[in-house]
Amino acid sequence: MNDSQPPPSEPEPKRDLYPNELAQQNHNAQPRPDLPWHAAFDLAEIEAGLAERLAANPDTESFVRETLVGDRILAVIFHAGQWFAIDGICTHQGGPLAEGHVADGCVTCPWHGWQYELASGTQTSSGQPLQAVFPIRQNGTLIEVQLP
Ligand code: FES
Repeated sequence: MNDSQPPPSEPEPKRDLYPNELAQQNHNAQPRPDLPWHAAFDLAEIEAGLAERLAANPDTESFVRETLVGDRILAVIFHAGQWFAIDGICTHQGGPLAEGHVADGCVTCPWHGWQYELASGTQTSSGQPLQAVFPIRQNGTLIEVQLP
């Protein structure tokens, strides 16, 4: 018999699936006073009257655009009368979220169906904040985003 049995191992600490440090830092889209606003795009340059149409029909109109702000690709989304800015590259395998289906406050990645809440970046099936989201505002016809 062997008396030198290894000590019982400590249980592994619980780890997030697909840890995403950026998302954990940025799963709150509340504006921050210490961050500057960056122009994402001008609605007036995309389509004449677009800003007015979205404002007049917030419950029925939607809008999605992939845009580069700084070095970050974002999916900028107008849905249910609100603007959202979510990392445009899906945490799973890099799918383009701006090409996903938007409904019920969520965007579903077109590649394998991972779904994220627009307001928090939380993946709906795991409940984890896997996708970074950013503060966004409309300033006249200009859409502006805060990046860390
Ligand atoms: S790349 Fe988005 S679900 Fe797979």
